[in-house]
Amino acid sequence: MAEETFDNAPIGVFDSGVGGLTVARTIVDQLPHESIIYVGDTAHSPYGDKPLEQVREFSQAIADDLVARGCKMIVIACNSASAAFAAEAEQRYDVPVIPVILPAVKRAVATTRNGKVGVIGTTATVESGEYLRTFQSHTEPENIRDVEVFSEACPLFVPFVERGITTGRQILGLTENYLEPLKAADVDTVVLGCTHYPLLSGVVQLVMGPEVTLVSSAEETAKTVYRTLSETGKLADTDPVREVSLSFESTGDPARFAALATRFLGPAITSVSHIPEALR
Ligand code: DGL
Repeated sequence: MAEETFDNAPIGVFDSGVGGLTVARTIVDQLPHESIIYVGDTAHSPYGDKPLEQVREFSQAIADDLVARGCKMIVIACNSASAAFAAEAEQRYDVPVIPVILPAVKRAVATTRNGKVGVIGTTATVESGEYLRTFQSHTEPENIRDVEVFSEACPLFVPFVERGITTGRQILGLTENYLEPLKAADVDTVVLGCTHYPLLSGVVQLVMGPEVTLVSSAEETAKTVYRTLSETGKLADTDPVREVSLSFESTGDPARFAALATRFLGPAITSVSHIPEALR
């Protein structure tokens, strides 16, 4: 058997801002020994309402820098940036590039029962047509039957998530409006095609109903990171003494980034009280 190899270099992860932290969080859950350099391009956020060419330029600058700093893999933890830059990035860098769109499409194709899949995302992602193209290249006959794709841009979802509003009448009404065409089309699977949207999975599931399966681009991407590092012998070692570094960087205001980031990464446990045995 070949000797097991390891690579303790960091994984570079970037997004327009905090949304990609849903991807980083899942990577940390599944791969706790990996170091991560996360860049949130909050100086240019949101990407979702900008022309693709501009998003491509922002993405390239960040990814070039992460590669120059020795990252062993680049995770494009943003659907808009994946739509604008993934194909070029795969050619440009020697290290593996993991975009969020392909993993989500593969899962949706494997999940749908009636062949009707909804995709929700930012205006940039939906207008790029990248999800449609990726679905088309992953529905070969031997792979699965034809999949019909119904896309809806949900431009107000990101600002709602960033304001921390994921419950209540306003977001419920907005979600009902956005998802109405997907319900009418009878989709049985919905791709959360924006890394902010896992925080809205409760309201999206409520509106779509329990029979519809939600596919999170964040979760599927983290699984692809795991598989790729395993297959290429580049997982970090599990030495408990080695320090794992999680570094978060923001091109905009770090204080605002930090405040929002807590919502995406999950709150820290600040106190644990002891329950006497008699009460258990
Ligand atoms: N997280 C980004 C995405 O997945 C959306 C946020 C933005 O518009 O910048 O597309």
